[in-house]
Amino acid sequence: MMRFRSLLLVPVLAMGLVACQQQKQKEAYTEEVEALLSKMTLREKIGQLNLLDGSWQAERLENDIRDGQVGSVLNCSGEMANRLQRVAVEESELGIPLLFGRDVIHGYKTIFPIPLGQAASFNDELVEAASRIAAVEATADGIRHTYTPMIDVTRDPRWGRIAESLGEDAYLTSRLGVAMIKGLQGEELNAPTSLAACAKHFAAYGMSQGGRDYNIADISQETLHDYILPPFKAAADAGCATFMTSFNEINGMPASANKYLFNDLLRGEWGWNGMVVSDYYSIEQLKVQAFCETLDEAAIHSINAGVDLDMMSHVYWPLLEELVKTGKVKESVLDNAVRNVLRLKFQLGLFENPYCDTTRTAVFYAQDHLETAKRLATESVVLLKNEEQVLPLTDNVQSIAVIGPMANAPVEQLGTWCFDAEPSHCVTPLRALTAECGERVKVNYAAGLAYSRDESETEIAAAVAAARRSDVVLLFVGEEAILSGEAKCRADLSLPGAQSKLIDEVAKSGKPMVLVVMAGRPLTIGAEIDKCDGVLYAFHGGTMAGPALSDLIFGRVNPSGKLPVTFPKMVGQVPIYYNQKLTGRPAGDDAVLLKDIPVEAKQTSLGFSSYWLEVGYKPLYPFGYGLSYTTFEYNKIQVSNPVLSKNGSIEVWCEVKNTGTREGQEVVQLYVQDVAGSSTRPCRELKGFQKVTIAPGETQTVSFTITPDMLAFYHAADGKSYAEPGSFNVWIASSSDTGLESHFMLEE
Ligand code: GLC
Repeated sequence: MMRFRSLLLVPVLAMGLVACQQQKQKEAYTEEVEALLSKMTLREKIGQLNLLDGSWQAERLENDIRDGQVGSVLNCSGEMANRLQRVAVEESELGIPLLFGRDVIHGYKTIFPIPLGQAASFNDELVEAASRIAAVEATADGIRHTYTPMIDVTRDPRWGRIAESLGEDAYLTSRLGVAMIKGLQGEELNAPTSLAACAKHFAAYGMSQGGRDYNIADISQETLHDYILPPFKAAADAGCATFMTSFNEINGMPASANKYLFNDLLRGEWGWNGMVVSDYYSIEQLKVQAFCETLDEAAIHSINAGVDLDMMSHVYWPLLEELVKTGKVKESVLDNAVRNVLRLKFQLGLFENPYCDTTRTAVFYAQDHLETAKRLATESVVLLKNEEQVLPLTDNVQSIAVIGPMANAPVEQLGTWCFDAEPSHCVTPLRALTAECGERVKVNYAAGLAYSRDESETEIAAAVAAARRSDVVLLFVGEEAILSGEAKCRADLSLPGAQSKLIDEVAKSGKPMVLVVMAGRPLTIGAEIDKCDGVLYAFHGGTMAGPALSDLIFGRVNPSGKLPVTFPKMVGQVPIYYNQKLTGRPAGDDAVLLKDIPVEAKQTSLGFSSYWLEVGYKPLYPFGYGLSYTTFEYNKIQVSNPVLSKNGSIEVWCEVKNTGTREGQEVVQLYVQDVAGSSTRPCRELKGFQKVTIAPGETQTVSFTITPDMLAFYHAADGKSYAEPGSFNVWIASSSDTGLESHFMLEE
């Protein structure tokens, strides 16, 4: 609409741009929406709020669609979607087009690393490019709404959906969540390749108690506002078209009935004006959660909380009709929900172009899509260990043993939430390494185990034999795809099956050994890593995981990934995360471990600090950690001014030198600590990162800008977020447990 474009041409400040975007969102298609709404019967209005699953016998929905009882369909695409769309557009009374939704979580046909792996890339541009490709492929199949990005911050690797998350840090999750939204939605929502994105799950799903899915989130207001909400605020400011409710409650209030979250905060304080969709059955579940006694009450709570679309609860349809007629739900409340749905359909251009052009499916697995998938898979791998420079393999390696249940497992390397991809398009590590080795290097392959949970040890001897006749061992272990994702929570984070036994036996060969881990979460594999010379943590790398790993193993590419989540030594350390509070008794390296406690030690002899007797207080690997085939040296941190004025900014910079022999990418991280506050402050928090490419011998100056708003934190007393004057420490670092330190003051 021209008037909005002319408005956008007006030069505005960043804040003004957000307000302008929200105004654009608010006013979009007002006339068209009001004109259509005025023609709709009560039943037709309620039908627009009904989202049904078309994943089986979709044709059974035709009569309801014709009758105006269905507004959106999920899990239906291609010709079947067009068939249902024709019924809606050409046979229903008002011809309102359907909105087709799908979980396109990390790719549609071309599959990218799971989001936790993408987060390890710390590469906004690449994550955005991958999401753009996912949108191009999904829209070719008639999908126009995706339930992505999942931006639930989580600190619990027991939780199966950590695989779908962008890790434990709110800042990293915010940046990459926005990158996904920009990639999915493109420049204009009404472009045929644009997908309406969906920020989910609002909110605090990642804080499910005990890492058990769907469990309660019992958290402080500070945790909610300082760690959980910021990625969603960033998503709203970025113009994310939709939000989804989460299954969990927050402190007794289920998200799907949470007026504070959706009406007061999201639409009120944040000024967001998109469409809210419930999660699957989540409105009906309000009864199961002992929040209400009847489904009528569930419908009343949800519609009044600002939940527009009912995904498969079958509550809004049919219950809202009687509830409105009897005045238990105001029709004005219903109308607002319908406006949000209709506005989105106008914004997507569905009234002009309701059908998908199924000839566009030629874009599936396009070569440039696969190249981007390989690049992102490469940058998602974290080099955790590289003793004796076992990696990259050199020309004097004449033979390699490729061993393990994940070496040639196309379904497993795709990871969780892959409905539409064909494993036949996957290139596995075995296939890629065999192609790379050609006649030059002999490949001795022995799976050792049939799949990650395999307890059978009958094939381990063959794997050991393969190792003995090879110069180097490449051991591919991890988790099958089904062992992470929704409702796939683990109480034990060790390698499943007999994989540890396989590693033990192969290690006895005495050959140099590289462990490649393909999993949906951090695993407690410290003992296994001790037996290896090199470790590449690849998460589930998607369609092109094989070529990515082959390029890394043979050194065509230098690893650059950094951990987006803390790796515990033992599951008993969970939750363990980098930005924790200091406590009054932080532990030190002098903490006496279980194995060192003298017999009949006196009660006070060990000291009194905060750690675990078995493993101390440190994790296996910290957030932000990752090695390279080269080395980087950080020097000369400086701040432009030791005092930050309350309306000003300061620069902090340092020199980063590539002290190795090959080019490398380094994720330079900025951390800040508020030395003291009116509520206790964490030991440090990520406030910036830059991924820079530095040639061997080259020195680059990497600079960050610090402003007072970056130092703000939530004050429960007045419900506001703001910074407090005082002392701050600042680090520029290669990981969350190190860095060059400096200091500044924030003035009164
Ligand atoms: C699931 C998930 C949600 C997903 C939805 C549709 O239960 O919680 O993330 O988008 O249902 O598949």
